[in-house]
Amino acid sequence: MSDAPKKLHIKTYGCQMNVYDSERMAEAMGTQGYVLTDDPAEADMVLLNTCHIREKAAEKVYSDLGRLRPFKEAKPGLKIGVAGCVAQAEGEEIMRRMPLVDLVVGSQNYHRLPEMVAATARGERPVDTEFPVEDKFDKLPERPATGRPTAFLTVQEGCDKFCAFCVVPYTRGAEVSRPVARILAEAGKLVAKGVKEITLLGQNVNGYHGEGADGVWGLGRLVRELARIEGLERIRYTTSHPNDMADDLIEAHGAEPKLMPYLHLPVQSGADRILKLMNRHHTAAEYLRLIERIRAARPDILLSSDFIAGFPGETEQDHRDTLALIEEVGFGAAFSFKYSPRPGTPAAERAGVDPEVADRRLHELQALITRLQHESQAAMVGREVGVLFEKPGRLPGQWVGKSDYLQAVHVTSETPLQGALAKVRITASGPNSLAGVLL
Ligand code: 5AD
Ligand code: SF4
Repeated sequence: MSDAPKKLHIKTYGCQMNVYDSERMAEAMGTQGYVLTDDPAEADMVLLNTCHIREKAAEKVYSDLGRLRPFKEAKPGLKIGVAGCVAQAEGEEIMRRMPLVDLVVGSQNYHRLPEMVAATARGERPVDTEFPVEDKFDKLPERPATGRPTAFLTVQEGCDKFCAFCVVPYTRGAEVSRPVARILAEAGKLVAKGVKEITLLGQNVNGYHGEGADGVWGLGRLVRELARIEGLERIRYTTSHPNDMADDLIEAHGAEPKLMPYLHLPVQSGADRILKLMNRHHTAAEYLRLIERIRAARPDILLSSDFIAGFPGETEQDHRDTLALIEEVGFGAAFSFKYSPRPGTPAAERAGVDPEVADRRLHELQALITRLQHESQAAMVGREVGVLFEKPGRLPGQWVGKSDYLQAVHVTSETPLQGALAKVRITASGPNSLAGVLL
């Protein structure tokens, strides 16, 4: 037997929380002697970190598992694990449908991964989808330096909102906030390793209510405390619910220069009837009023949202109301999805919209969003903006980074820019990125 390190291949589906979790799982397996590989063919273990938010994402997991069969046949010792929200929602079913799967680990149990892998070596097929009381991150090893200037940091998990279409309250469980001290410690260590930008993650991140030194802190207070860390230059957070935009968080957007002028604040629909059916607990007018208050605090903020096309009961007028709201807010970015019924959610019981109508509405949403995105990018030309450079671009001498407003920016420079935060004058706007020159 050789002592060569074992190789782990992780495929990540879905949201940024999964990206963060995959990194932490890689670190947990690193303590067991595993190193990462991009190539499943050379892996000793393959982990699929899955997403259950829409049907397509969940079904992809089963087809990808099928595609791993030849690898397992070629290398019988290959271990295959399913993690994340599909694991959480249908762990037993995965084990039944897919005999090649060796372990299933739900979204709250990653700290147990090493012992579960050890169990597979004894021929067991462990499934752990419990919601434990302890903080899984507490049990995971310290994060190594990645060389990247940006990092995610999970501050909150789970959701208590129960939007009628959404599986998150079931797959990620009730809202749990990590204590302030742990978050500050993790942030401090990231900054010491060269991180300049931290994105705070949570399924309902602005619902953060963590234990601080003097009682419970909201996200606004946490942001202000993080901003005191020297060397940390930029703070972002995602994803937020309109009803949890507390006054002090809105104020922080005006008062705290490290808090970047970009906010993803999903509204889902512009029609009050649909918002009600979605169990969103706010109207379109209340959302617009909230946007006004946020813009009063930070006039240049770039706003982004998610929209669902063809939610059960959506009429043509409701759809037009959504288009009108998108136009009125003038989102600089947004995502739109065709409604996908999720088993166990209230909306899945209701009669759906004709799929062709839903497709057409989705295209109309996307066309409008694309136009607004281009307009907001074009408005950047001639302006000066901060850019944090993340990596070399495709062309020689080219570097790519993100503007304060989270737009991709390309710059050409003789000296390497990786990790540099610099002022750039925007000179051109392309379909999905901006070009600029260093000042
Ligand atoms: N169908 C379509 N889109 C959905 N989303 C969540 N659940 C569904 C569903 N069942 C969208 C919402 C959410 C985003 C992450 O995914 O817009 O904000
Ligand atoms: Fe899902 Fe977001 Fe609604 Fe929570 S607030 S139920 S995560 S869509």
